[in-house]
Amino acid sequence: DWTSAAFIDTTIAELKETLGNDKVVLGLSGGVDSSVAAVLLHQAIGTNLHCIFVDNGLLRKDEYEQVLEQYKHMGLNIKGIDAKDRFLSQLAGLKDPELKRKAIGRVFIEVFDDAAHEVTGVNWLGQGTIYPDVIESISVNGPSATIKSHHNVGGLPDFMKLKVVEPLKTLFKDEVRRVGKALGIDDVILGRHPFPGPGLAIRILGDVTAEKVEILQHADSIYINELKAAGLYDKVWQAGAIFLPVQSVGVMGDERTYENVICLRAVESVDGMTADWCHLPYPVLAKISNEIINKVKGINRVVYDISSKPPATIEWE
Ligand code: XMP
Repeated sequence: DWTSAAFIDTTIAELKETLGNDKVVLGLSGGVDSSVAAVLLHQAIGTNLHCIFVDNGLLRKDEYEQVLEQYKHMGLNIKGIDAKDRFLSQLAGLKDPELKRKAIGRVFIEVFDDAAHEVTGVNWLGQGTIYPDVIESISVNGPSATIKSHHNVGGLPDFMKLKVVEPLKTLFKDEVRRVGKALGIDDVILGRHPFPGPGLAIRILGDVTAEKVEILQHADSIYINELKAAGLYDKVWQAGAIFLPVQSVGVMGDERTYENVICLRAVESVDGMTADWCHLPYPVLAKISNEIINKVKGINRVVYDISSKPPATIEWE
């Protein structure tokens, strides 16, 4: 009896009623939830929805440009903000995972607050919160949870004083995807694997540098493209490469090498709370390993993570 068409109709009517001529600011992440929330709000209030998409320099290779283009194509009123250098400079030298997360949360707040101030007369903050986020009170998709836990110096930033509108608050992930599909959102967005807000910073162990980000982006893009080519991307719940700051000996031609390790992670899961490692076919792993070692400068060894959650987690941080 639950149909996405009925949900869309009632939600848009409610949003129109609640928001009238008000302005809403919303942070897009490239993920499923914020994208679906944005399209619903856009259909309700048009250009009174102001979307902000921040490039923290920790996204997948070329993802910022591609996703921004896609959003513009969808007709969203969106502003992209290149804040790569701000994030990287605040991460410099930080090795501890919690300190890295805090720095990223802090810079995000600053950047987003600046951008929100440019929307004159804004009254609302739109968020892609879904039902599991509400019940678990952890937001795996929005910045809000991180913001609340990390921003306790100097009072709340202004955008957090806005009224909050969360059109997906009653939905589960599969329902969000169905609504997204009915709204005509591209499968590339709807089928995207979950990706953590702090991005590649928590897939680089230890301190983050521009050079390590570039190496990881290259290795990760080879991995993801090969999964897609093998028809496995949609069967895996989440996959990504991890940069390990250890060096090991290898040989390349007649030369001895002493370079870093890339670890591949792929898991099956329903909600990320528990996860099993995927039994990817050996020929696919072999191809990915060869390609990474041959093409990614600075990497001479690839390993595969065969740990499940619990007791391991999905991310390495
Ligand atoms: P763990 O590593 O805790 O991850 O097993 C569970 C799921 O949550 C994602 N994750 C995050 N998503 N912001 C997010 O939006 C975050 O700070 C964050 N940390 C972890 C992770 O990618 C996995 O899907």
